[in-house]
Amino acid sequence: MSPFTSVSSLLRSPVSDGQVSLRGWIYRTRSSGKIVFAVVRDSTGIIQVTIKKGNLPDEQFQEAVSASIESSVEVTGTMHQDGRAPGGYEVRASSFKVVGPALPFPITEYQSEELLLDNRHLWIRSREQTAVMKVKATLLAGAREWLAENEFTEVTPPIFTQNACEGGVTLFKLKYFDREAYLSQSAQMYLESLIFSLEKVYSITPSFRAEKSRTPRHLTEYWHMELEEAWVDNDGNMKIQEELVSAMVAKVLKERREELELLKRDIEPLKAVVPPFKRLRYSDMIELLKKKGFDIEFGADLGAVEERAITEEEVAPVFVTNFPKECKAFYMKEDPEDPRTYKCADLLAPFGFGEVIGGSERETDLNKILQRLEAAGIPEDPYRWYLDLRRYGSVPHSGFGLGVERIAKWVCNLEHIRDAIPYPRTVARVYP
Ligand code: 4AD
Ligand code: MG
Repeated sequence: MSPFTSVSSLLRSPVSDGQVSLRGWIYRTRSSGKIVFAVVRDSTGIIQVTIKKGNLPDEQFQEAVSASIESSVEVTGTMHQDGRAPGGYEVRASSFKVVGPALPFPITEYQSEELLLDNRHLWIRSREQTAVMKVKATLLAGAREWLAENEFTEVTPPIFTQNACEGGVTLFKLKYFDREAYLSQSAQMYLESLIFSLEKVYSITPSFRAEKSRTPRHLTEYWHMELEEAWVDNDGNMKIQEELVSAMVAKVLKERREELELLKRDIEPLKAVVPPFKRLRYSDMIELLKKKGFDIEFGADLGAVEERAITEEEVAPVFVTNFPKECKAFYMKEDPEDPRTYKCADLLAPFGFGEVIGGSERETDLNKILQRLEAAGIPEDPYRWYLDLRRYGSVPHSGFGLGVERIAKWVCNLEHIRDAIPYPRTVARVYP
């Protein structure tokens, strides 16, 4: 067993007699003559360490005096209550050792966003970044739990592809030996092929979009959680989405209170994230927007401004269903009750956070798909295998894609999506 105890367990059950050992990185430090106050950070929290001349060998005291921020250290000492220290306790050191000294840290308070992004490899140590990564991991864990309980099989689709799922405009093209290929925008078509044996599948993969727009919610590389379900229609698809998203949020509320607090995330509205979510038809939404003064007609796609207007007074996410065909991709199922539209839904997060999921029932009529490809001038050849799925035992089916960073941005209440991923990829940035 490790002789070192984590900061959180030290603070949870303080040992008032006997020695404790911990290790981590110096978060802040100040010294006044014969005493050094070093706050030490590990993956679980921060704790104050007091190093007093005379309580430990002199060269160790000198080491503590000169140890700079972000130096890694090992400390042994005894715990004492101290109302002024973070967590209410301090460790009085009887031994102090620098494991890896640190040069003057390039990040101090009040840095420009650019400097922080250039030093992302160091900035990700910050407590806020750490909290976001923990919340994101818990969102993923909550999803995987729900998916296992509901008998979805996790599958591993390819990333190199030859077909565009979401249109040619945002494709990253690359040379694949002597051919051309793309980085995947969505695993959807591959997931569709897998439901014929596994029925309910999901994958969590990177997706790539050559998004030229610089917005607080677009990355060029993001993590995509996609589900595909045999024998499920668009209504069933929405039920799966609201249950899945609610389970993810519930897990965060149960396990990540401290992190949400550190991020100053009000948890009250998150408690309202329970099924069922409101459903709003696109056509009704257009009327709603007109009443709010928008100059908008049936057929227009939704931008961030429209999404904000629809969701700013909501506490829970809202589905917008039945988009006009011209707004959406060719693979969606026509709604026989309103053939101008598809049986589809976008899920919008509340308070203006906007689209977090795009989903639909899939078109099963081969001729309709062929007509749409032709009308859009999309060559059939790369989709031959996909079209085969309609020729061999086709079934009604639905699915959706959830943007993991979009959900994390909303749950953590972040201003910019780049803070929902350790190494954000945007038009402006592929380094570090
Ligand atoms: O709405 P999208 O484009 O839908 C699809 O790709 C479907 N083929 C998914 C499916 O049915 N399997 O993308 C799905 C979600 C969006 O709702 C959004 O949350 C996220 O992916 N997303 C992005 N996240 C970050 N940066 C971007 N550039 C994103 N583009 C989409
Ligand atoms: Mg979409």
